[in-house]
Amino acid sequence: MMKRNKFLLPIMAFGLLSFIACSPTENKDETTNKEMKTVDHHSYAQPEEAVITHLNWDADVDFDNKMIKATAEFDIRTVDGAEKIILDINDLDISVVEDQEGNELAYEIGEEKPFLGSPLIIQIEEGTSKIKITYSSSPEAEALQWLSPKQTSAETMPFLFTQSQAILCRSWIPVQDSPGIRFSYNAHVTVPKGMLALMSAENPQEKSETGEYDFVMKQPIPAYLMALTAGDISYQKVGSRTGVYAEPTVIKAAAWEFEEMEEMVVAAEELYGPYQWDVYDLIVLPPSFPFGGMENPRLTFATPTILAGDRSLTSLVAHELAHSWSGNLVTNANWDDFWLNEGFTVYFEQRIMEAVFGRDYSEMLAVLSMQDLEATIKDLTDNGQIADTHLRLNLEGRNPDDGMTDIAYNKGYFFLRLLEEKVGRDQFDAFLKSYFTENAFKSMTTDNFIDYLNKNLFEANNLALEPDLLDQWIFGPGLPEIHPNPVSDRFDRVDAVVSDWVNETPIGLLIPQEDLLSKKWSSHEWLHFIRQLPGEMTEAQMKELDDYLQFTYSGNSEMLTAWMIHVIKHEYEPGYQNLENFLVSAGRRKFLVPLYGEMAKTESGMAMARGIYAKARPNYHFVSVSTIDEMLNWQEENL
Ligand code: BES
Ligand code: ZN
Repeated sequence: MMKRNKFLLPIMAFGLLSFIACSPTENKDETTNKEMKTVDHHSYAQPEEAVITHLNWDADVDFDNKMIKATAEFDIRTVDGAEKIILDINDLDISVVEDQEGNELAYEIGEEKPFLGSPLIIQIEEGTSKIKITYSSSPEAEALQWLSPKQTSAETMPFLFTQSQAILCRSWIPVQDSPGIRFSYNAHVTVPKGMLALMSAENPQEKSETGEYDFVMKQPIPAYLMALTAGDISYQKVGSRTGVYAEPTVIKAAAWEFEEMEEMVVAAEELYGPYQWDVYDLIVLPPSFPFGGMENPRLTFATPTILAGDRSLTSLVAHELAHSWSGNLVTNANWDDFWLNEGFTVYFEQRIMEAVFGRDYSEMLAVLSMQDLEATIKDLTDNGQIADTHLRLNLEGRNPDDGMTDIAYNKGYFFLRLLEEKVGRDQFDAFLKSYFTENAFKSMTTDNFIDYLNKNLFEANNLALEPDLLDQWIFGPGLPEIHPNPVSDRFDRVDAVVSDWVNETPIGLLIPQEDLLSKKWSSHEWLHFIRQLPGEMTEAQMKELDDYLQFTYSGNSEMLTAWMIHVIKHEYEPGYQNLENFLVSAGRRKFLVPLYGEMAKTESGMAMARGIYAKARPNYHFVSVSTIDEMLNWQEENL
């Protein structure tokens, strides 16, 4: 899909200014505002000159035209002599920019660059304390997904949700879209009557009569955590600080699935200090949501693919909840430091899971993480992308989404686990707790983290690591030789079953019916079982497993995806229809990529992939579409 853009040419609004076309720059000015000294290749903002501090957003959500028409009024903080403030925009139609008194301000829209959109350069003067931008978003805005009633569960009302991370906020709000820049916000949002609107803010629990809603987010957050959703949404309380939103048809199942939320918040607080965002709610979105979860403050956005019916995928809740500390409180300063968000979060997620479900449970998750990490390192290395196996990345000139691999998540996790193993859990926990407390509401670069670590973990405790170990993990490739080794007895028992089955003991003897019925194995054991199956199986073997274990019909999306890889590899036709059903209904990129990827390996598989994609593509979010288009070499004319 070609991206439409009305602003290919720079526009001079008043002809007064002749700004030099601006490119994303390094903030070199150390004297004006130290905390702004950060490098972000993915934002045009120059916060060392002028920075936003608060947003007052007034928006009308127009479902008929798939547009948000809004005013974004920012409080700004400037240095003496500041002449301009630069915001990021992507495909926004700007109609006027004014100051706090309603005087028009001159502005210019600079050259558009791939992924980044354009700089909106606004002329300011001494005494300019606010800028107010009147604008509308494009129907193709990359952060917005407008669903027809058919694409929802009840099929009665349309639905809208946003996805701002990493740099898509600029497609629905003109903003300094850099994770190192934080602002609080108020919003007044109008949606069609009968809909509930929610944001990453204090939220209503019931529909209003007028379709108007007011929101407050009093803590400062970066733009990638701006979020909005609207549709036929209801609410159910789970615990004193926790609750679930979903379409009315899904709300009961959702509230049941996430009953452990409150317990997780308590476990998280016991580990690393008070939850700072008052309430923790979660919304189950329609199936096209492209991620498993998104940690929008106070309101995690989640895919319905985690409604497994047996609470087996709730580690995702632990993950998004953990971001309330790692990411939302202490934020990666730019997308090269993404591991500071995700690696810390996987570590924290594992600790919550261990606290709530025990070590033998969380070690299964750790072994799965190691499998994912090893596979990713192999893929990236085979692909000549060795530099992408470093924790600290260099994503200049690239889509920051390229950094969303198992490296940031699982190499990050194992690095922190290594530190824990080296210094002992008590010292490491004390260190992490102070890291989150002392750096709350601030951004963090990898270099600052290393300084903090050296000072507060090593020097303070008179400890040292092997020389170079830190460098190998953070700035070096692959998995360093010294690394944690998760072990799971429960998985060892699974391995024994796989090996007996490969040696021709019938599956029904190895796993008696009563064990199946009593759910002796968790879904993680099943996932491990499916992953450990041999690369080559006969059709009879596939059928034996499937007839007895019903993998093709699994309600657990992780297991289903792992099984469908075998279905594709072995051309196991009885699985095809459900493969297609899954791909047409679910839009979570994590599942789409391996499945389409496996199909694309052969000519006949590619034909099948394209056939399915033609049906599924209209249901997918931009984020998924852009990835799969590339994988399948999809052109507009295929439509
Ligand atoms: N913050 C991420 C999602 C994200 C990352 C969106 C980068 C856009 C760019 C979220 O916390 C996440 O990691 N989600 C995972 C689930 C998790 C359990 C690993 C996902 O969606 O798969
Ligand atoms: Zn995450």
